[in-house]
Amino acid sequence: MNIFVDSVMTDDERRKEIYAGSIFAFSPPSPSALQLCELAKELIREAFGSLDPQTVHEKLPAEESARILSVLKPKFIHHPKSKDLVRGMLRESGCNLEETYFDVPRMRTAFPGDYLKSGIAYAFHPHRDTWYSAPFCQINWWMPIFDISPDNSMAIHPKYWDNPLKNGSSEYNYHKWNLESRSNAAQHVKTDTRVQPRPEEPVELDPQIRLVCKVGGAYLFSAAQLHSTVPNTTNLIRYSIDFRTVHRDDVLGRKGAPNIDSACTGTTMGDYLRGTDLAHLPAEAIALYQDGTELQYTQPALTPTLQAGR
Ligand SMILES: [Fe+2]
Repeated sequence: MNIFVDSVMTDDERRKEIYAGSIFAFSPPSPSALQLCELAKELIREAFGSLDPQTVHEKLPAEESARILSVLKPKFIHHPKSKDLVRGMLRESGCNLEETYFDVPRMRTAFPGDYLKSGIAYAFHPHRDTWYSAPFCQINWWMPIFDISPDNSMAIHPKYWDNPLKNGSSEYNYHKWNLESRSNAAQHVKTDTRVQPRPEEPVELDPQIRLVCKVGGAYLFSAAQLHSTVPNTTNLIRYSIDFRTVHRDDVLGRKGAPNIDSACTGTTMGDYLRGTDLAHLPAEAIALYQDGTELQYTQPALTPTLQAGR
């Protein structure tokens, strides 16, 4: 597994590497990445008022933080500037906006200790996004909003790039999840009873790669990488942003990382928006990934506010 830092590779070459398990880190951050982090900081500070946003767990009950986050996180997702800044970031990172589709950026939090790690602040167990109906050509983009350390970051578990892991993904369907679980994330403060695909055998977490970049420095990795939230043993809350991209040619050509253990149904392919005009992928491209379950779990028009796993 290779880690490329500040690579000047073209996007076509980069995607090929990512599908083979490589990770890309970009530091210094691009101008739009920095602006996206600034926007997130502004909204976080506004939400928590005079409190230091990284230590609110010392002042507020967990239920109150969950309530604030349940307003803050969708506000960030739907902020008029969020999508524009993601598009700027893609352009500055060498992506062709006509061919690259992205989903809305999400804000994540990792609180110290056991303070709050379910529902709206879910601490992700080791998972692949492809267990959550993401396509194998999906690329994950991740960056910290405030400075992080190895002890409040995220981890990738490279052993499982080419080693299957017994898991519960066969029980997961993205359309069913949207219908039943998404809207009530904020209710899960101390425990999370929603069914999510998990490893079903002991996981060897080490060796693990903990990515530590400066604010706005982005990491790109395949949706098929096993990754997790590092248990936060610092006294500072970690805030981060992530979003995903797919490239139209790879969608149409069914390219991407190999599937070694994902058995979920449904697809997230309908979520991605074109970099130029926010159009969805052509219906025939989405249809390549549909399995009929999208009709089984019909829903009122939902915006992806509190997305699961992935
Ligand atoms: Fe994930």
